[in-house]
Amino acid sequence: MENLRASNLVNTMRIDGDKTITSFAKDAPTIIRYSLADLADGSNSDMDYHIEIINKDDKLRVLKFLRRYFFRDEPLNQSIQLIPEGEDSTCMELEDYCSHATFENNLSLMAVSASGAIIGVQLNGKMEPSSNEEPEYIRLCKNTKFKKILRLLYHIDKNVNKGGQYRDSNVLEIRILSVDTNWRGKGVAKNLIEKTIEIAKQQGFHYVRADCTSAFSGKLCARLGFDAIYELNYNDYVDEEGKPIFSPVSPHTAAITYIKKV
Ligand SMILES: CC(C)(COP(=O)(O)OP(=O)(O)OC[C@H]1O[C@@H](n2cnc3c(N)ncnc32)[C@H](O)[C@@H]1OP(=O)(O)O)[C@@H](O)C(=O)NCCC(=O)NCCS
Repeated sequence: MENLRASNLVNTMRIDGDKTITSFAKDAPTIIRYSLADLADGSNSDMDYHIEIINKDDKLRVLKFLRRYFFRDEPLNQSIQLIPEGEDSTCMELEDYCSHATFENNLSLMAVSASGAIIGVQLNGKMEPSSNEEPEYIRLCKNTKFKKILRLLYHIDKNVNKGGQYRDSNVLEIRILSVDTNWRGKGVAKNLIEKTIEIAKQQGFHYVRADCTSAFSGKLCARLGFDAIYELNYNDYVDEEGKPIFSPVSPHTAAITYIKKV
């Protein structure tokens, strides 16, 4: 057993068959982290991981992870081939988007395996007020492919905020969610979202919101009790010639905004 002084290590968890055993140690200056040797039954030790709050020193390795598992895999990125082929290729505009106020706000999370590898990342941020006009950072974006994605997100946001219902609310936004391909379907994203809900509660947010561009993240939010408040079918989001701007592979047919009161 290892004693750690790590205020950013927020919980430890072990997946054991169908069961997830989680022990939270929020805000504790000293916490206990169990090493594999401490596991009583020694079962399935390959599946150990814990969740940490991301800080600015993690930025480079988090971006490296996202280049590998999000920049290509996210359904919209994939449908327009945002990233050129090649292990280290990237999209600087997407890197900037990821970095915007997410590495220093103590709201973003990463899942880290027992061997110290990042296996999941969730970048969260406080939602900024909705704008009636297309923001300058979108108008000035020089990457035409990424600009399409920013425009879609703006379109969604405008529609979500049409009624002004959330105008005076403090909303925590899930901006990026990504899990290592080898760890998918094992509940890592579920645990990251659940931890986010807990942090949102502690920090006085009114809602947690996710604009889910993937059917998998959408399914997960629905299962975690989020309400779907806006849905945009990709087939209905078209260019001047009436052609869909994004045609992600099945089952990703729509972007759905989910919100949960905390
Ligand atoms: C979306 C993503 C983060 C989900 O992570 P995850 O850790 O696999 O999610 P979970 O294990 O908590 O499961 C989520 C649900 O989606 C399902 N799911 C996840 N990947 C799946 C796949 N490839 N095929 C079928 N179902 C899948 C899970 O089975 C689960 O549903 P269930 O509980 O009914 O079985 C992951 O697929 C990913 O990184 N995708 C690429 C990036 C992306 O699209 N991000 C989201 C953008 S909004």
